[in-house]
Amino acid sequence: MSGPSTYVPKSGFARWMDSRLPLARFAHDTMLSFPTPRNLNIWYAFGAILTTMLLVQIVTGIVLAMHYVANADMAFDSVDRMMRDINYGWLIRFMHANGASFFFIAVYIHMFRGLYYGSYKAPREVLWILGVILYLLMVATAFFGYVLPWGQMSFWGATVITNFFSALDQVTPHWGSAIATWLWGGYAVGDPTLNRFFSLHYLLPFVIAGVVGLHIWALHVPGNNNPLGIEVQGPQDTVPFHPYYTVKDGFYVALFLLIYLGFVFYAPDFFGNPDNYTPANPVVTPPDIVPEWYLLPYYAMLRSVPQKLIGVLVMAGSLVTLAFIPWLDTSKVRSSRFRPMMKQFFWIFVLDCIVLGYCGAQSVDAVRFGVPLVWAARVGTLYYFGFFWVVMPLLGLIETPKPLPASISQPVLSPAE
Ligand code: HEM
Repeated sequence: MSGPSTYVPKSGFARWMDSRLPLARFAHDTMLSFPTPRNLNIWYAFGAILTTMLLVQIVTGIVLAMHYVANADMAFDSVDRMMRDINYGWLIRFMHANGASFFFIAVYIHMFRGLYYGSYKAPREVLWILGVILYLLMVATAFFGYVLPWGQMSFWGATVITNFFSALDQVTPHWGSAIATWLWGGYAVGDPTLNRFFSLHYLLPFVIAGVVGLHIWALHVPGNNNPLGIEVQGPQDTVPFHPYYTVKDGFYVALFLLIYLGFVFYAPDFFGNPDNYTPANPVVTPPDIVPEWYLLPYYAMLRSVPQKLIGVLVMAGSLVTLAFIPWLDTSKVRSSRFRPMMKQFFWIFVLDCIVLGYCGAQSVDAVRFGVPLVWAARVGTLYYFGFFWVVMPLLGLIETPKPLPASISQPVLSPAE
């Protein structure tokens, strides 16, 4: 897609370097001259926003780790000390904690964008699957990170999630609990668990950074999809990445950071759970154990099934399903702009995820408008799976898409046609 390199070394040193390690040529071809569809909208800025948030999380995380003590007797107090005694420790901590939430806001917009414009379809299946791997790594990293402040929700969240493995006892007696014991490094969540979670929480962001490299590589082979979902026909359909998208992405990154910092400075506990300001106590279970907001839909699916093992499998299945989307969608047309039925099912799916998230945040026996929420979660879970496994394959066969424009530039350059 990018064609032959247009890099011209401008100095003697640049020529010398270019024939030995052509880093400048690589940067020029992938980030400056890279031909990019001219019709990318705001939703295409979220890749750049995600990359920025990953950097923010790594930098603030490294500084936090300089003061954090990964010991069950000291972790909570070490975080408290950071908030009160370390210069600007409160800022770094709130940036990191809110950064996680904003990282997930960005990734969900990025994923829904990909779903809406059919960006997972050939030839971008590997790009999509690398995205799913990134998402799973983000979920794991966030889970490990949430345990570290060693508050009540940290401890009980870790207990609930690691206990999923003991559900295996129902099919292979003792194996499930044996795996849970092995994960804990003891007979319950405790100091060894905290230590290994800290180690993994420090490691995984660098794995994420490596996979992001692959993700962007896999993007640069076919090039970007675009809101019309049609192929680039020639140079008239593209503009160089710089200055067009460096400026556009830069603007949206700045806007996103402003909103994020608004929360850091004015509502730093908005996304948090007050129970995590109470030190972990293995003998007092909080009345409602809830994960962070970005995992609530999965939690709702888990709790909607009365049988523990099946609940765990449903939850795991909801994640694994994402990797199959490129093959579940049978439509020849990528973008939902030209798919009248898909568009409607897509928006119901977005609503479904919000309803599931709401159900996950309430007590398990809650009733709203006379409806037990566990039933709402059951319907939501059915729609989640039905959307991918039934609607997507069927729609490609029965839907009549709207006519596609001949090229990306056609509606702009010859609007009368
Ligand atoms: C750490 C997380 C991630 C980072 C840093 C990241 C980064 C990027 C960047 C820089 C782009 C190009 C700009 C854009 O289209 O927005 C991109 C495109 C893309 N990403 Fe991601 N991404 C991440 C996670 C994901 C996830 C979780 C998925 C899906 C499961 C995904 C799927 C895609 C797809 C399909 C494209 C191509 C979109 C198109 O051309 O229409 N990404 N990503």
